[in-house]
Amino acid sequence: METTLVLVKPDGVMRGLVGEIVGRFEQKGLQIAGMKLARLSKDLLERHYADHKAKSFFAGLVAFMQSGPVVVLALRGLNAITVVRGMMGKTFGKDAAPGTIRGDLAISSSFNLVHGSDSPEAAAKELGLFFGPGEVLDYTLGNRDWIYDVAAELK
Ligand code: RTP
Ligand code: MG
Repeated sequence: METTLVLVKPDGVMRGLVGEIVGRFEQKGLQIAGMKLARLSKDLLERHYADHKAKSFFAGLVAFMQSGPVVVLALRGLNAITVVRGMMGKTFGKDAAPGTIRGDLAISSSFNLVHGSDSPEAAAKELGLFFGPGEVLDYTLGNRDWIYDVAAELK
């Protein structure tokens, strides 16, 4: 099982797409292990996007991510990091395939609705940045035994 950090970005909240986006992850079988609405500080965003610090879009990205509240999610499942990235689609909505969140719901190159951790190292770092102690929960989904072949997959 992996846990990954997902953000519904300010455009997703402002456009009323939180239910649609979170619903897609739930329907896939990913478990919501943590969830909250938050306004992100400049300091947190600069640490979150540290790898992009030298890029031309960095200042605009940090400003966009501060332009409204975001939904912060910890999603858990088999290969959750890769599964979530696939469901998000390519970075820019105009390039993302139909069937993906960005492909179905976004067209902009800056406003792209969702963030998802891109590696196990990034997920560990980002879960630590966005969630405090006790905010990511352990529990068993009621339908777990129908989402997974438990005997074969969850040993
Ligand atoms: P994310 O980090 O948000 O999950 O998205 P990503 O991996 O698909 O894209 P990444 O390359 O990490 O870029 C982070 C975010 O910066 C904005 N961006 N703008 N104007 C531009 O050229 C540009 N490039 C990236 C997007 O909001 C992207 O999600
Ligand atoms: Mg990224």
